[in-house]
Amino acid sequence: MWRWFSISFEYREVVDEVLRMVWPRSMKLFTAGPVACFPEVLEAMKIQMFSHRSREYRELHRDTVKRLSEFLEARKGTVMLFPSSGTGIMEASIRNCITPGGKVLVTIIGAFGKRYREVVEWNGRKAVVLEKPPGEPVLPEELDEALKRNPDVEAVTITYNETSTGVLNPLRELAKVAKEHDKLVFVDAVSAMGAADIKFDEWNLDIVFASSQKAFGLPPGLAMGAFSERVFEIAKKIPNRGWYFDLILYREYQEREWSTPSTPPIPQIIGLNVILRIIERMGGKYSWLKMYQDRAEMVRKGVREIGLELFAKPGYYSPTITVVKSPPGIKGIEVYEAMRKRGFEIAKGYGPVKEYTFRIGHMGYIPKEYIEELLRNLREVIAELKSKTK
Ligand SMILES: Cc1ncc(COP(=O)(O)O)c(C=O)c1O
Repeated sequence: MWRWFSISFEYREVVDEVLRMVWPRSMKLFTAGPVACFPEVLEAMKIQMFSHRSREYRELHRDTVKRLSEFLEARKGTVMLFPSSGTGIMEASIRNCITPGGKVLVTIIGAFGKRYREVVEWNGRKAVVLEKPPGEPVLPEELDEALKRNPDVEAVTITYNETSTGVLNPLRELAKVAKEHDKLVFVDAVSAMGAADIKFDEWNLDIVFASSQKAFGLPPGLAMGAFSERVFEIAKKIPNRGWYFDLILYREYQEREWSTPSTPPIPQIIGLNVILRIIERMGGKYSWLKMYQDRAEMVRKGVREIGLELFAKPGYYSPTITVVKSPPGIKGIEVYEAMRKRGFEIAKGYGPVKEYTFRIGHMGYIPKEYIEELLRNLREVIAELKSKTK
């Protein structure tokens, strides 16, 4: 393997102390994010740092943006990288594109739609809400109705994959309706990008964003987004866009020097580049997405065979996270704790459905055998917990 420096550790024990603190024992991760990273990613991220104004960084940035643009089918749009988590771009969408005091139609199908609403309101804009009960998606005809009732909204926000309920919204159809009403379309794809298809140009999206610690299987700290030309045209006219997330400034830096205005998380960008190359080696975007579909189906089938019920409405199941109803008399947290004792870190229920659900994330580095082991253990845990309720 190519080595760029000779390794000598003077304080090896310090590394061990910290690692023992965060990884006291080996666990298999089925989390909602951060998720387990691909070993190739972790290996490449160990590299010594270099300047984000160097020639080498520019090449890394240019190549990563090019690969991600292809993955998102965003050849007309501009793909950019941000030193934040995905919520940073959520905030940027509002500050850069919505007139101060202007209205946004926020669609809510769970906890992260609610966060978009807060971001709209805390930034001095007005949220008009279309909310569905947990477990359900937004349907195109419902969006159409809401837009007919509220023709003065400037944009529509859509959570592509609601991580709290395990529901995948019909994004392509919803975006089509929003465009028939000539609205900007902002998509929170934090737990979807990399696992659910996104055709940025064809679906006419304006902003779609995600975080590194989800379906690409990278550590947290990097956000990535694609932006339509219309976004930049509108942003030019919006006052007080702030500095840190000024999209115009971001694009200027990228066009001028293939870099970012402030310091980017270089290791995560290296990791993203590695993953995008792995995707290519695996046969390209659609083979990779199929891997995600297969995993999700395997988990759902296994869960049903144990006799458990899924939370999401049939037909709208998430490719990245399966939300499961815990059986009567058993709390979601009890299943979580019992699985943890057996070396499996699943995800606790989240938001309003926290009490009576638990979640199985299937993002990042998860070999097939891990899923088989998880399901075997889950069957035993449910049987044990049930026997205690009798
Ligand atoms: C759908 C969705 N939106 C937004 C977020 C927030 O992302 P971040 O914490 O990376 O900003 C999450 C995190 O789990 C999410 O799942």
